[in-house]
Parts: sequence; C-alpha cells; structure tokens
Amino acid sequence: MLIAQITDLHLGPPGSENADQAASVADPIANARATLEAVAGLARRPDLVVLTGDLADKGEVDAYIWLDAELARHGIPAYVIPGNHDLRAPMRDVFGRRGYLPADGFMQYVVDAGDTRLIAVDTVIEHETRGLVCVERRAWLAARLEEDRETPTIIMMHHQPFHTGGPFDDIGIEGREDLEAVIGAAPNVIRIICGHMHRDILASWAGTTVSVCPSSAFQFDLNHADPTTFRVRAEPPGYHLHEWTKATGLVTYTGTVGSFTVIKERARP
Ligand SMILES: [Fe+2]
Ligand SMILES: [Fe+2]
Repeated sequence: MLIAQITDLHLGPPGSENADQAASVADPIANARATLEAVAGLARRPDLVVLTGDLADKGEVDAYIWLDAELARHGIPAYVIPGNHDLRAPMRDVFGRRGYLPADGFMQYVVDAGDTRLIAVDTVIEHETRGLVCVERRAWLAARLEEDRETPTIIMMHHQPFHTGGPFDDIGIEGREDLEAVIGAAPNVIRIICGHMHRDILASWAGTTVSVCPSSAFQFDLNHADPTTFRVRAEPPGYHLHEWTKATGLVTYTGTVGSFTVIKERARP
C-alpha cells in the first residue's frame, strides 16, 4: 500500500493581505499543482492520496472546486479532512459527492486501504487556529479502534497531537491527554499523520509515531525555540509517501518538489 500525503495547500488568491499566509512568499496554486504532478508522476503511482487539511486558505469554495478537479484529472483516489483554515460546508458541497464523507457533523470516517486501515479524525474548531478532539469525536475514535485491534491502522488528523513545549502548543490540540489515552490503548496504531506545522517533523507520542508532513505551499521557519518570531519561508513544497508492506511495516519518504539538477545517472545493474 502506497499512500501519498499532501497537506496545507492554502489555496487562495495570491496577494492575500493575511500576513501569516503564503501569498506574500509563494503561489499556493502553482505549488499545489506542481506537488500533485510530482506525486502523480512517480514511477510507482500511489494507491491513494490523503490531504490533511488547510486545503483552502479561507474556506473558499472555488479552492475546493479547483482541487477536486485537479485530483480527478490525475485519477488517484483522494481523501480529504479539514484544517483550521477550512470550512466544512463548502468542503462538503464539493467533496461530498465522492461518497466517503459523513452527510453532516464532523468529517470523520474510515478507509479500508489494502491491508491497512485509515481513520480520519476531525480536529477543527471552525474559525479558530487551535484544534480540539471533543468528547463526541474521541468516543467515535475509541469505538472505531475497538472494532479492530489487529489491522495496522493509520490515524490522520490536521493538528499535531504531541506536546512540543514551544509556541506551537498554543495552536495544537486542546485536551491532548484524553486523546493520548484513547490512542495509547490501541496497539495497532502504527502512525498518526498530521499537517498544520508546515515542516517535516517526527515525534513519539501515545505509544506510536507522529509524522508531520511539510506543506505544499510554504514552510514555517525552523525557529520553534524562539517564541517571539513567527516566520514563513518560501522553501520548496514537500509531500510524504507512506509505504506499508507486511515485511517492512510503515516506511515514510519525504519528497521535495522543484527542478533540481540531476548530477549523476546511470542504469542499475
Ligand atoms: Fe496550514
Ligand atoms: Fe493549520
């Protein structure tokens, strides 16, 4: 099973006045297009692609329409969850026709992905930056995990659940300890995949590994030790490729999108 993860596309019009957004340093639409093309153009095409939130910059329906058409053009099955920059109603208007999203309420669902199981958790409080997995969402997740304690399971959510000890905690998941208990009780959660932090990050948490995928739009400067500065940089777009086989377990690769010079190439013996 080969799963591509693309996150934090922040699709919106270039020139946005929102100072913390990409438009001033990058073209999110061009970057998203290049990232999708990189993923679709891999020698081995992913079986599916997951998009882990902040798809639009301000919940714009036009962004979702554009993205849905691009995904359809590449013909790879795609699954979306919301981030703090998204709005559920316009997302549902566009992606609802694909059949996997619940008709209302939180955007949580299960995907049977070959020999693995994907569980989507909705961490969004609309119009707020921080995340939350409330009692209702936690109970739903606990019930899904109790259904199957065997199949290798990947949980996907927008906000990072782990404690960083830095300024990112203010925009992380509120009440993460309760979520930790639910996930920690399930021995078959092989990974939690997230976005939101706009950088390639790994952490141990709740008895499993959390990976944060870089953004397709822009990256946050690596200044997490400095709580006074928030800086966005036009580093290249990135994505994750998660490959699961029985022999290897889950192995994750980071792809960097751009035109890089090939300095050596020869046929493999
Ligand atoms: Fe984001
Ligand atoms: Fe976010």
